[in-house]
Amino acid sequence: MTINMNEGRGVIARYREFLPVSASTPVISLGEGGTPLLFSARLSERVGRGSQVFIKNEGVNPTGSFKDRGMTVAVSKAVEANARALICASTGNTSASAAAYAARAGLQCVVVLPAGKIARGKLLQAFAYGAQVVAIDGNFDDALRIGRELGEAGDFAIVNSINPDRIAGQKTAAFEIVDLAGDAPDLHLLPLGNAGNLTAYWAGYREYHAKGKSTRLPAMLGFQAEGAAPIFHNRIVEKPETIASAIRIGNPASWKQARTAIDESRGAVDIVSDREILDAQRWLARNEGIFVEPASAAAIAGLFRCSEAKSAAYSFAAIAEGSRIVCTVTGHGLKDPDALAHEAVDRAPVPADSAAVRKAIGL
Ligand code: F0G
Repeated sequence: MTINMNEGRGVIARYREFLPVSASTPVISLGEGGTPLLFSARLSERVGRGSQVFIKNEGVNPTGSFKDRGMTVAVSKAVEANARALICASTGNTSASAAAYAARAGLQCVVVLPAGKIARGKLLQAFAYGAQVVAIDGNFDDALRIGRELGEAGDFAIVNSINPDRIAGQKTAAFEIVDLAGDAPDLHLLPLGNAGNLTAYWAGYREYHAKGKSTRLPAMLGFQAEGAAPIFHNRIVEKPETIASAIRIGNPASWKQARTAIDESRGAVDIVSDREILDAQRWLARNEGIFVEPASAAAIAGLFRCSEAKSAAYSFAAIAEGSRIVCTVTGHGLKDPDALAHEAVDRAPVPADSAAVRKAIGL
C-alpha cells in the first residue's frame, strides 16, 4: 500500500501559500480544519427576513476546538526554529491543543492554568497528551503574564495567540467559508475571549478579499459573557466570572486588534448572560444535533439577541432581506460535561424487560 503523506486534510497542506511556512518547515499536523459549514433552517427561520444562517462547527477539529488550526502552524514553526519546549496559558482549549501537537512533534509542553477553572474534559486532555500541567492561584490573565515572562526569557516557545503563527493558522477558517460558499457572508458571529479568533477571521476575510476571492467583507460581531466583558465595557475586568470558562478573561491579549476588526467591519460587540448561554447550548443540541461547550453557545445566544432583543448592540431588525449569516461554534460540548450536569438526570434502573422500559418512557 502506498500512502501519499501530503494528501488529505490539514490547514498547512491546504493553504500553504497563505501561511508563514516554507518548503523546509516540518509540518506537524493532526488533520485539522475542513470543518463543516452547516445550514440551519431553524435558525434561519428564527432570525427571519429571508436570512440564511450557517454554523461553522469547529468542535470537530482533532482536539475538539478551533485552536488546532493555529496550533499546527505555531508548533511547525517552533520545530523549525529548534525549540525544545512549548509553553501556553489557557482557559483549557489552547492547552489541550498545544499538548496534542507537542506530543505529535516530540516536544515538551508546559501549560499554565487557573486552578479550579478548567473544564474537566480539557484538563484530562492536557494530561492524556503528556503535558506538564501547572495550576496557579490566579486567573487566565495571570497565567498569560507568566507564560509571556517564561517565553521572553527564551526557555520556551509561547504558543498563545500572541504568537502571530497562531493567528495565521486560524484565519484559514475564513478561507474555508469563502471557498465553500463562493463569497464571504454578510455577518459573522463569534464568541470573544482573548480576542485572537475574531482578529484571525477578519485577517482571513481581508486577505481573500484583497486577492479577489470574495466580493464583500462581513460585519464582525463578537459576544462576551456578561461577567467577563472587558471589550464591551472598555475596561479591564479584575475578577471575570462566567459559566463559559473558556472566555473567562478580563484583559484580552488581542483587545486592540479585535476592536479594530469590529470597527473596520462596522460590526459590534455585545454581551450575553450565563442563562442565555446555557439556553442557546441546549437549543442547538436539541434542534440541530450540535453539542457545543458554553463559550461556543455565546455566538448562538448572540444571534438570538441580535434578532430578538431591543437593546441589542447590533439589531437584525434592519439587516437586508436574505442576509447570509455565519456563526462559529468553537469547541465541543463533551469538553465541559459539568456545565450540562443539570440536564442528565440519574434515574433509578428499571427491570431488564421491554415492558418496564415501555412504562419508563410512558408508552
Ligand atoms: N471559544 C472557545 C471554546 C475557546 O476556548 C476560546 C478561547 C474562545 C471561544 C475565545 O476565543 O480567545 O480567540 O477570543 N480559549 C482560549 C484558551 C483563551 O486558552 O483555550 P479567543
